[in-house]
Amino acid sequence: MNNWTLFLLSSICLSHVCAYKILVVFPYPGTSHSILGEGYVRHLLRAGHQVTYLTAIPYKKPHPNLKQVVVASVVEKFEFFKTLDFEKFISKEVDLTDMQVMYETMITVANRSLTHENIQKFLMDTNEKYDLVVAEWLYHHLYSGFAAIYNCPYVWSSSMEPHTAVLSLIDEPGNPAYFPDHMSPVSPPLTFSQRAYELYYLFYLRRVLWSIRGLEQKTYEEVFGPAAAKRGITLPTLEEVKYNSSLMFGNSHISSGDPQRLPINHIPIAGYHIQDVVPALPENLQKIMDEAPYGVIYFSMGSMMKSSTMPTKLKRDFLDVFGTLKETVIWKLEEELTDVPKNVIMVKWAPQPSILAHPNCKLFVTHGGLLSTTETIHYGVPIIGIPLFADQFINVMRAVRKGFALQVDLGYDTPANLKVAIEEIVSNPKYTQKVKDLSFIYHHRETKPGHTLVHWIEHVIETNGAPHLRSPALHMPFYQKMYLDLLGIVLLGLIVLIKAVQILLRLAKKSDVKKKRS
Ligand SMILES: *[C@@H]1O[C@H](CO)[C@@H](O)[C@H](O)[C@H]1NC(C)=O
Ligand SMILES: *[C@@H]1O[C@H](CO)[C@@H](O)[C@H](O)[C@H]1NC(C)=O
Repeated sequence: MNNWTLFLLSSICLSHVCAYKILVVFPYPGTSHSILGEGYVRHLLRAGHQVTYLTAIPYKKPHPNLKQVVVASVVEKFEFFKTLDFEKFISKEVDLTDMQVMYETMITVANRSLTHENIQKFLMDTNEKYDLVVAEWLYHHLYSGFAAIYNCPYVWSSSMEPHTAVLSLIDEPGNPAYFPDHMSPVSPPLTFSQRAYELYYLFYLRRVLWSIRGLEQKTYEEVFGPAAAKRGITLPTLEEVKYNSSLMFGNSHISSGDPQRLPINHIPIAGYHIQDVVPALPENLQKIMDEAPYGVIYFSMGSMMKSSTMPTKLKRDFLDVFGTLKETVIWKLEEELTDVPKNVIMVKWAPQPSILAHPNCKLFVTHGGLLSTTETIHYGVPIIGIPLFADQFINVMRAVRKGFALQVDLGYDTPANLKVAIEEIVSNPKYTQKVKDLSFIYHHRETKPGHTLVHWIEHVIETNGAPHLRSPALHMPFYQKMYLDLLGIVLLGLIVLIKAVQILLRLAKKSDVKKKRS
């Protein structure tokens, strides 16, 4: 065999050995979650792997190495999405910070996706084999079941900054004294009552997780039971599987989050969803942004809340306020409005990263979703946050604390308050300077987040689930961590000692009395 054929053979082998089959599980029917799922798909395909993608929002022209299992029709059936309504948020009728409701809702949503015929058909196909599963964590643990079915390692993907519920899956909860929960709009140093509340919250969260265990296990068995039976394997319990991930990717980074102590297998990769090359703006927007004499303010409340649920008065008031500004405003809203002021451009869909990347973009008015806060740091644009639900409050609060944002609460007075906030940010350069500084920290990494992602996924596969990364804290009982057993022994020892001294004293007294008598 000459060198040339050897080279050819080895490169063929290499490409075979290195091309893994990876299942990316992101069927939650929300645009931002699909953007995060697509990030994994894109980087893994580029690294030469075979990817299967469970999604509600499929690619129209998929890559040849990509197979999609689509659960699109799930979206319309959801009561849950009807709760995402501006009016209900303003009247505080919906409260998405209630963790019990959050977990139960998300289990139901996941169950709908997982019992969808396409996913069930896919699960029953015994030809499907995988080297690794990427499972999204979103207030339930059901997607880890795929790893049990394919008997392969899996990694969690968390769409937020690290917090107690996700860290408990790979290590242990953070200390509540300086690690407030992701729903708490407080930041260290905490006052006495804040610390007490955070400790209470830790127990509250435990109780919630305990109370949903039955529902989650039942759902898990219904979803994965038939597939396990068909493969002739005993399905491990969800309790066993959910703590068995090799690592967790966090859509997080120190530039947007807090300096936390993290276990070695929490890998922060915020920004991996952003394309390396900024896609070109559509021609009309490019022209508007190039020519805006006083710069552009971009306004978007994300994709989850449909603008049709925004009260008409609120929309009108926003337009009136924008009309008084000298800046050009690009407002992303899924409907047409009449009597739009000259400096306001309404768009039904916005290429958000490309708008933020434009040097003329002065300010981003956002709901403060983590994708938006990441993108704004990526491109260095200050924000005004109008948080609506979930982690948006804490994202906006962090941004305010970091000094590149102002917060305006949702209500009928939002437009008036927004005007004051806009005037402050465009007239005071400190917000822009701050976000540029953070943008430097964000970009100043050893490797790009997409490379980090691929590296660690390959690492887990090539080390059979990376057992060397698992934290010893994960399976250690609480009483051992807190040394309650030692405390018990010491207390017992003290009691024995005191008793012994008492007995000795009594004996001494008795013999004293005897001596005197004799
Ligand atoms: C846990 O993961 C390891 C490695 O990925 C695997 O070998 C083992 O079977 C898994 N255990 C359970 C209970 O799923
Ligand atoms: C999951 O969804 C299926 C139908 O899609 C339903 O029959 C089943 O009762 C649900 N399971 C749970 C635990 O809610």
